[in-house]
Amino acid sequence: MARQVRKSSDEAPERPNPPSQLAELTEANKRLKRKIFDLYTIFEISKHLNSVLNTETLLDGIILTCIGQMGVNGAAIFIVRSHENDNLSLAKTKGLAVEPAKQLLIKEDSPVLRLIQSMHGKPMSYSEIRQRLGDIEEVRLLEALECEFLIPMSLQNRVRGLLSVTRKISGTEFFEDDLEFLAILANQLSVAVENARLFDSEKEALERLRTAQLQLLQAEKLAALGQLSARVAHEVNNPLGIIKNYLLMIREQESQDKQSVEYVQIVTEEVDRIANIVRQLLDMFKPRQDSFSDTDVESVIDETLLLLSLHAQKGRVTINKQLPDPFPHVYGSAEQLKQVFLNLMINSCDFMPSGGRIDIGGDVDDHVLRLHFTDWGPGIAPENIEKIWEPFYTTKSAGKGTGLGLSVCYSIVKAHGGEIEATNVAGAGARFTITLPTKR
Ligand SMILES: Nc1ncnc2c1ncn2[C@@H]1O[C@H](COP(=O)(O)OP(=O)(O)O)[C@@H](O)[C@H]1O
Ligand SMILES: [Mg+2]
Repeated sequence: MARQVRKSSDEAPERPNPPSQLAELTEANKRLKRKIFDLYTIFEISKHLNSVLNTETLLDGIILTCIGQMGVNGAAIFIVRSHENDNLSLAKTKGLAVEPAKQLLIKEDSPVLRLIQSMHGKPMSYSEIRQRLGDIEEVRLLEALECEFLIPMSLQNRVRGLLSVTRKISGTEFFEDDLEFLAILANQLSVAVENARLFDSEKEALERLRTAQLQLLQAEKLAALGQLSARVAHEVNNPLGIIKNYLLMIREQESQDKQSVEYVQIVTEEVDRIANIVRQLLDMFKPRQDSFSDTDVESVIDETLLLLSLHAQKGRVTINKQLPDPFPHVYGSAEQLKQVFLNLMINSCDFMPSGGRIDIGGDVDDHVLRLHFTDWGPGIAPENIEKIWEPFYTTKSAGKGTGLGLSVCYSIVKAHGGEIEATNVAGAGARFTITLPTKR
């Protein structure tokens, strides 16, 4: 396979005579025109692409330009993605069998990159790279990308990206003009690529800040509401106890007609409901850390499943648990965690009225464990996903929900130094993910 560069002027005969001088002039004129056209194209493309801040759109633009302008079969772009190193990862391909992937890398200290760096921005042919470096992994990656030429995108003498082009569809070789075009284009666009990358990481930072702010707001709201609710709950609790006692006494009297029995039954149920709300309110704002100890999360889940088994059976909900063995312990309260798991799974059962499935899964990372509870219900409407943590927020019909379950979960998980998050899973329903620091 011929991979060497040929000058367009190589085709001109060596000894000039008048007709051939004319031919040479015509040829030179053609080349000049092509060059002006190339430069104009580069100018137009750069003008447009330098204002694109979305990395994906930008890379698409660059690849399409290369393919269109060079008439190649395909192209690929590597760019620096991370803040931590200058590794170049495969970010975009077109017309190739290889899909972009983070792990397809040309590392910052690789021989390929050192070689490219030594070329000071000039494109290098695959055959030359292969000849100099031999059959190493990164050369094999270039081969898989059908690389014919590799063009660096440098910024202040640092390679921030690599453009790889395949052979031309026409089968003809690359002329010097082509390589010049690619080199100028790559250079022009390296600033745009770096800008887009910085913009992306700013966007990510902003998103993280927004989440942190929302969580703070939620914590503040809970704290303010907590003080008030705890006071009200205490006030309500005492008269509630008295009412319950009297109800008990009325039920024990034998002189009641059927109607009164029914009424007393209704009042008792409603009083239980109030008591339930009060208990949840008090739970939410009780000081917590004091009852913490070494807690085996998996046994807490097993105990919760035991408690829930009848309820789940009645609702025709099956629960599958699949956790890594062994699953780590946390420093926390088994009772409180049980309440979190119970609240989540009762919600899931409630949202699958004609039966369904809950999957409990988990994984362990460096000093944290993650638990997922996924159900097969309708999921949570995206516009409500941030509201569900608010106390008293419920979409259940009047009298059915208190809107306190998830607020309780939130404050318990927070008290354990963890995070809780709700998402929807395509093809399933809602997923609640709890992250907790593991016990060291
Ligand atoms: N598994 C779930 N599937 C769909 N929506 C859910 C689920 N869990 C919670 N939600 C939403 O969050 C709201 C608040 O839940 P929660 O705080 O437990 O209060 P409640 O259960 O009393 O409604 C629910 O009313 C519902 O809109
Ligand atoms: Mg609930």
